[in-house]
Amino acid sequence: MEQIKGYSYGDSALDKSPVTMQDLELLKKTLLWSKDDERYLNMAGKVLQDQTDQVLDLWYNYVGSQEHLLHYFTVDGKPSEHYLAAVRERFKQWVLDLCNRPYDQTWLDYQYEIAKRHHTTKKNKTDKVDSVPIIHFRYIVAFIYPITATIKDFLVKKGDSPQDVEGMHNAWFKAVTLTALLWCYPFVHQGEF
Ligand code: HEM
Repeated sequence: MEQIKGYSYGDSALDKSPVTMQDLELLKKTLLWSKDDERYLNMAGKVLQDQTDQVLDLWYNYVGSQEHLLHYFTVDGKPSEHYLAAVRERFKQWVLDLCNRPYDQTWLDYQYEIAKRHHTTKKNKTDKVDSVPIIHFRYIVAFIYPITATIKDFLVKKGDSPQDVEGMHNAWFKAVTLTALLWCYPFVHQGEF
């Protein structure tokens, strides 16, 4: 597989997540996570495997058509093609990782890394760009809806039964909620996460 620039999943130099595996288990329990969700996510991974470019086209159109969102990819007020293109490759990989990776310590540590990349701690550093310093917290949470609603059209594409599509969509919703909330960590006062 060609190396994706800035994608450091599993890199031993990454910081350990301050959220523990035990915290993660309780979060999954809170989200009514089940073995079925894992099965459905793997199924979604197969369905989405060859559609990630189309998924990203749609999401980038969505971000690109809203000035207040595109703002986070700008340098000196103009969208940075270099930045948008670099993030796009890692975003595509994330779609597959969300579905296929085991949610273990390695996964948790990379969620912490992505969290920092959305926050002043590390935004812009990976792609060496001089963009705005933070993605405001409120939009991270708001993104859960569009990222969930828009995936449905791609989940139906391979002719799976309505029940399986529903199962995949539900599991996707839980997984996106789980990751987005893990990415909120750097935005929350110490001891309040
Ligand atoms: C980075 C997904 C919220 C803008 C990324 C990456 C992914 C991702 C997968 C690349 C991670 C990596 O480096 O491996 C998501 C998801 C979100 C979310 C699932 C919420 C559910 C947002 C919002 C914005 C945004 C609201 C604002 C428009 C960016 C930017 C980067 C990025 C600018 C690059 C950060 C850097 O400098 O490294 N996002 N994102 N994201 N996202 Fe998000």
